[in-house]
Amino acid sequence: MQSNTPGVTEIFELIKSDHCSTVGSQVIRDLYDKCSSTYDKETVDLACTGAKQSGIILSEHCPDKNISIVDCGTGTGLVGVQLNTLGYKNVVGVDISQKILEIAEQKGVYKNLFCVTVGEERMPFGDNEFDALICCGGIAPAHISPSCFPEWVRIVRPGGSIVIVVRRCYVELHKDEEEFYSQSLGESFEANIRHLEDSKKWKAISKKIFPGYLTKNGHASDGIGMVFEIL
Ligand SMILES: C[S@@+](CC[C@H](N)C(=O)[O-])C[C@H]1O[C@@H](n2cnc3c(N)ncnc32)[C@H](O)[C@@H]1O
Repeated sequence: MQSNTPGVTEIFELIKSDHCSTVGSQVIRDLYDKCSSTYDKETVDLACTGAKQSGIILSEHCPDKNISIVDCGTGTGLVGVQLNTLGYKNVVGVDISQKILEIAEQKGVYKNLFCVTVGEERMPFGDNEFDALICCGGIAPAHISPSCFPEWVRIVRPGGSIVIVVRRCYVELHKDEEEFYSQSLGESFEANIRHLEDSKKWKAISKKIFPGYLTKNGHASDGIGMVFEIL
């Protein structure tokens, strides 16, 4: 895909484009490979609070600092840095982009990193292997599909937690941000959550909406942070 607006902006442009629902995972991999070296600066410019909020939410629900955590959609490791600062040292990461994982590795906060296309490939982990899974920003149009939730449930032990932080407008039709809303993602997000609740695989523990997930052109987007307990 050609664009004059490289970096994360190119990903925002894809997300709100008409052809977003038809792009394959290779397109997303290439875009994140391409923006891996500028991603951290760009998230500072966008005043992104998602990674910080994810760490706060996880620590509110999982006070034991020795737990094993898998960070899904690791990116450059901003969530790992937050978790490390909060005292969590037993963290592995998973991402589709090898180049972005190389940036994450330099942060020195992950025990191990795995290049996996979540939603398409089986996660390289055993059943009940982790105490918690965290995903900040990984659920988005053309990104990780909510159809992977059963696979997440498989690798987190009963009693463990799944923390999902998502930009609100991607999954809920939201005033002034309609251009980013994906009806198919929103419906899939709801349906996959409900299916796991109905089949007693997980239960929703909390949902909070927080302002300022990111701020672009003076407009602040809300984030949603959700916590599920594995049954
Ligand atoms: C918006 S970034 C969030 C990164 C990081 N969690 C943060 O908060 O800064 C989304 C990440 O999800 C990854 N990603 C997108 N689709 C994926 C997939 N199907 N499987 C694994 N990772 C994926 C991207 O490569 C990118 O690093």
